[in-house]
Amino acid sequence: MKTNVAVFFGGRSVEHEISVISALQAINAFDRSKYNIIPVYISKQGRWYTGPLTLDIRNYKDMRHLTENSEEVYMRPEYGDFNLYRSNPSGGLFSKKNPVYEELHVAIPVLHGSHGEDGMFEGLLETIGIPFAGCDTLSSANGMDKITMKMILSAEGIPVVDYVWFTDKEWLSNKEAIMDKIEAKLGYPVIVKPANLGSSVGIGKASDRRSLMEKIDNAEKFSRRIIVEHMVKDMMEINCSVLGDCDDYQTSVCEEPISKGDFLSYEEKYGGGSKAGMQSSEKRIPADIPETMSDEIRKMAGETFRVLSCHGVSRVDVMVDRSDNKIYVNEINTIPGSLSFYLWEETGITFMQLMDKLVELALRRKRETDRKTFTYDANIFAMGGGVKGGVKGAKGSKFGHR
Ligand SMILES: Nc1ncnc2c1ncn2[C@@H]1O[C@H](COP(=O)(O)OP(=O)(O)O)[C@@H](O)[C@H]1O
Ligand SMILES: [Mg+2]
Repeated sequence: MKTNVAVFFGGRSVEHEISVISALQAINAFDRSKYNIIPVYISKQGRWYTGPLTLDIRNYKDMRHLTENSEEVYMRPEYGDFNLYRSNPSGGLFSKKNPVYEELHVAIPVLHGSHGEDGMFEGLLETIGIPFAGCDTLSSANGMDKITMKMILSAEGIPVVDYVWFTDKEWLSNKEAIMDKIEAKLGYPVIVKPANLGSSVGIGKASDRRSLMEKIDNAEKFSRRIIVEHMVKDMMEINCSVLGDCDDYQTSVCEEPISKGDFLSYEEKYGGGSKAGMQSSEKRIPADIPETMSDEIRKMAGETFRVLSCHGVSRVDVMVDRSDNKIYVNEINTIPGSLSFYLWEETGITFMQLMDKLVELALRRKRETDRKTFTYDANIFAMGGGVKGGVKGAKGSKFGHR
C-alpha cells in the first residue's frame, strides 16, 4: 500500500507565493511508486483546496478559477482523525459522494512564515496527532521569533549579534527612551526588524536617530515585537542546512547568497518570478570559504538546530564579520525555501531521498511520541470520595496546584 502524504502550502503569510513554489518542487520530487501525494493549497484567506489544478504553477495566476475548480477540504481538530474531508460533498446530506476525500498518513507542511512555519499549523497537526515532517510547535515558534531565538542561542553560548528588543506599545509610549537605550548599547548603524516575519519584509537599516525612528515606525506596522540589532558592516552571509532531529542530524555544504545592497531584499531573493524561483537567485555553492571556516559554520548550524530542538530540514543563516572573521548565527528557517534541496544535492542526497527522509523522520517521531504518557486511564471523578463541593471546590482543592 502506498503512503498517503499530504503536502500543505500557501497560507496566510507574506511568503505565500514562495511556499507555492517550494511545495510544487517538493511534490515533483517524491517517489510515486511509494507515495500517493495529496496537495493541499491554503489560500491567503485560509481556506484549503486540493485537486489537479493545484499542482500547476500557472493556475495560481487566476485564483478564482483555481479555487472554483478545486475541491475545498478540511480536517477536524479531533485526535486520531486523519481524514481529509470534502467541504461540499455535492448533492446535500444524502449524497452518494464520500465525504472523505482521502485518509492521510503523513503531513508535510511546506509553509513559509506566519501561520505555517511559526508553530500555529504544527499545533493543529499535533492536536490531530497525525505524523508530520519538520519542527514541532515549540521549536517552530522558538525558531520563528527572532527575539526568542536569540535569547535561547545566547543562553546556550551560540554567538549572536548584540540586540535590543521591545514591544510596539513600549515603542509608542516611550520612543526617546528606547532610542537612548539603542544608542547606548549598540551605536550606529543598526538593523531594525519585526520579530516574526521573513523574506526581509519590514527590515531596515538606520545610521542616525532620525532614520532609526522612521525604521522602527515602519517595522511596528508588521509586528507587535521589534528587534534592533548591531549591524555587521562588512558582512558575508553563509547558509547551511541541517537534516534530522536534535539527537541525530547531519549538515549540508555551505552556500553564499550574493546580495547587491546592504541586505538581501525580497526581490533579490525571489525576483524573476520563474518556476526555478529561489534556486535561480544568485548564490555560490559551495561557498568560497576556507575549510576550517566551513567546518565551524556547519558545527554552529548543527548546534543551533540541536538547542532549538529542531526536526526535519532547517537552514541556518550565519553572518561572517569580514573585519575579524567572527561568525554569528543570524536566524534559522525551520521550513527553508525549496526545502534547501539544492544544498543536499551538493552534499550527496537527492531531492527524492530528502523527501523519503522527511517522511521517515515524521513516522519515527510519531512512534516516539506515542510511547510517552499523556493521560491516565483512571477517572478521578469516578474514584471513591469524588469531587465534593462540585466544580467550585476544585479551585481551592489539589487541582489548584497542577
Ligand atoms: N545584524 C545584521 N547586520 C548586517 N546585516 C544584517 C543583519 N541582520 C540582517 N541582515 C541582512 O538582512 C537580511 C534579512 O535579515 P533576516 O534576519 O535574515 O530576516 P528574514 O527573516 O526576513 O530573512 C539578511 O539576509 C542580511 O542580509
Ligand atoms: Mg533571512
